[in-house]
This record gives sequence, C-alpha cells and structure tokens, in this order.
Amino acid sequence: MSERVDTLILGAGAAGLFCGGRLAERGADVLVLDHARRPAEKVRISGGGRCNFTNIHTSPANFISANRHFAKSALARYGPWDFCDRVAQRGITWHEKTLGQLFCDQKSGAIIDMLVDELTAPGGRMRLETSIGEIAHRDGRFEVTTSNGLVSAANLVVATGGLSIPKMGASGLAYDIARQFGHDIIPTRPALVPFTFSGELKDAFSELSGVSCMVDAKAGGGPDFHEAMLFTHRGLSGPAMLQASTYWRESQPVEIDLAPGDPVLEDLRAARENQPRTSVSSWLGKRFPARLASYIASWPTMPANKQLAQLSKGEMDDIALTLKKWRVVPVGTEGWRTAEVTSGGIDTDGLSSQTMESRNQPGLYFIGECVDVTGWLGGYNFQWAWASADACAKAI
Ligand code: FDA
Repeated sequence: MSERVDTLILGAGAAGLFCGGRLAERGADVLVLDHARRPAEKVRISGGGRCNFTNIHTSPANFISANRHFAKSALARYGPWDFCDRVAQRGITWHEKTLGQLFCDQKSGAIIDMLVDELTAPGGRMRLETSIGEIAHRDGRFEVTTSNGLVSAANLVVATGGLSIPKMGASGLAYDIARQFGHDIIPTRPALVPFTFSGELKDAFSELSGVSCMVDAKAGGGPDFHEAMLFTHRGLSGPAMLQASTYWRESQPVEIDLAPGDPVLEDLRAARENQPRTSVSSWLGKRFPARLASYIASWPTMPANKQLAQLSKGEMDDIALTLKKWRVVPVGTEGWRTAEVTSGGIDTDGLSSQTMESRNQPGLYFIGECVDVTGWLGGYNFQWAWASADACAKAI
C-alpha cells in the first residue's frame, strides 16, 4: 500500500517549503520530504544568521545561466516586494544593508517559521529524516520509494538544491532525477566561494589575513563588482571575490582594481606637487591599511623608497597601472565545502520558464538552486527560490 498525495515535494529548503506553502493555502494535498533533521538549514545560516532574503534591485541581469532569458518570466511574476509583503504580514521586519540587500531584523529562524507555518497551518505536511530511494512513473503517477514507505503522487516537485556544503545535507539527487527523465545537466561548479592560492601569494595573503579593502574585481569576462575584498589564510575572500568566483575558470586571472573610483595618476601628480619629499611607501600608507600598504610596497614594480619628486612619468604610470590592474591567478577555490551556491545544474532547455515543468515528463517540476540559474551574492538566490517555487505552484 502506498501513501497517495496530489503533490510530493522533495526538499524542505527555501524553494520546496515556499512552493508547498503556496499549494497548501489553495487547499492542495501536499507532502514535503527531506532527509535532514531540520528544515531549511541554509536559510538558518544565511546572511550571517539574519537571512538576506531578497534584493530590491533584482533583475534577470543578476543571474547566470546558459539561457540568460530563462529566469525572466518567473522573476517578473514574483518580485522582491511580493516576498516583502508576505514577510511583513508575519510581523518580520527588515533593513537594507547595502546594494539593495534586505536582511531580517530578527534571526533567520523567523523566515523558517513562516515557511513551515504557511505549509502546515492550511494542512500541508512535512516529513523530515526521510531518505529518497527509487523513483518511477507508472499509470500517470510518480511512485517514490522512501525510508518511510512508498509515496504515490500526481505531481513531483524536485527542490533538493545543489551541491554546496555537503555537510549540511546537499546532494546530487535533483541531477540524478533529472537525468533519469532525460534532462541534460550543465556542468556544476562551486560558486560564490573564496579563492585559494599557492606559493608566495598564499604566504603573503596569509600574512595579511584579516585585512580588507574596497576593490573592483572581475574574472572570466564577468562584470566588475565594487565590493569589499578580504585576505584570508588560504587566499582571497569577501563579497568582491565571491562574486568574481562565479565567473572564474581554472588558470584565469582575477583582475582587481585596488583603488576603485580613484584617479590614481592625478592623485600621484598632485601629491608630487604638494609633498615632493614623501616616499612612495608613505604615500601608499595613506591609501591602504598599513599591512596591505607594506605588501604593495614590496612589489618589484613599486619604487617604494623613492621620493615622489624623483618619480619619472613612466614610473608614475606604472604605479597607477599596478594599483588599478592587479592580476592574480588563484590555484582554485575552497570548493563545495564553503561555496554558497552551485552554478550550472539542470539545463533550462528541458524546462518551461513559465511553470518550471519538465518538457520530457508532464507533472515533474524542478525549482530553486538545482536549476541552471545562479544569482549573484546579495539575496538574489533566495529570490530565485521564491520566484521559481511560485511559478511552479501556480501551474499545479
Ligand atoms: P536548499 O539547499 O535550500 O534546500 C534543499 C533541501 O533539500 C535541503 O533541506 C536538503 O536537506 C534537501 N535535500 C538535499 N538532498 C536531499 C536528498 N537526497 N534527499 C532528501 N532531501 C534532500 N542566498 C541568498 O539569497 N541570501 C543569503 O543570505 C544566502 N546566504 C547563504 C549562506 C550560506 C552559507 C549558503 C551555503 C548559502 C547561502 N545562500 C544565500 C544561498 C541559498 O541558501 C540557496 O540558494 C537556497 O537555499 C536554495 O534553495 P533551494 O530550496 O533550492 O535549496
């Protein structure tokens, strides 16, 4: 005997719970399964415990996908303010930290409580600590073997996320199910992840560990990100590096402007006029945190001990260029262990952008991070989870 439901959702994370809530409030018979002990653990740890739940500047340009048009429909039909309205109705308040990023004033748990209540209060069900086995499609229904028995469902929504942070229960289940039903997978990569270095750079960055500064950073033909960079024991982190990592590919450089928005050459000329006896290293010391200034002064291209008055035009050009176009080649990234998201995933060519339904198997849907739609850092990935879940729920 199998348990029968209208809609079975695999994954009680951001997308799965939100989709379940939208279905349950319409009176649908919905069951959400997860192998974890607690739901939505990534929501809990997100935004340093305050869940950066959306970004008010969300637009399709903030997402990376093999099909850059795919996310447009869902994002247009469910925007940041739709989620804000829902959060406000629960009495959850928020603040904009920077760049349109909205964080809860309360702990992230407030969002999880909201998601779970919206599912269960109208009668939707959630079952945790349940592992998923074989999945078959017979006589117009999905039959899912689980550690708690067989579940038969008319609709199957896959919301088991991506591969980042396996310690928190991430698995490749969504990709396995997608392959089983004939979908292609765009190769997956850890994204929004710190860079690692070897040799001299690793040693130097380790010495600078804890120092941060604003930069413009880009990699792999991606846009410039004007955010903070942080030196760590392993390499480079901070929002600017995490953003660049999504575009980066092995052996490519990361291009860093250490003086973003500053006309370095003009500043240098003015300083030479006004303080001709100042050394290049003192001049650097006024612009950068002390440890970073000493590190830059140690670069072979820096005439650190010269007075500004002694600099030739060529040397001044070189200093400006060195600061504006610092190029470093990471050996890799910290990988799945710390990546915030997975880039790549289920090829959107096989899905409807209106409903997230499989083109190969009616009644089968993929939502959230498992789909090849990767947001920038800053609330965009949750916005994709809400929007893709809403599109799916509306279609069922
Ligand atoms: P999600 O990963 O949330 O949920 C998947 C669920 O499926 C999990 O509950 C998991 O246990 C379950 N599951 C997986 N495999 C299974 C299996 N085999 N069987 C049964 N269940 C299975 N984004 C953002 O917009 N703002 C932010 O502040 C942050 N901050 C942040 C911090 C950190 C440290 C991380 C790791 C990530 C973020 N993110 C973020 C990204 C965000 O957390 C992520 O994009 C969403 O949680 C994706 O939602 P999903 O529901 O698709 O997957």
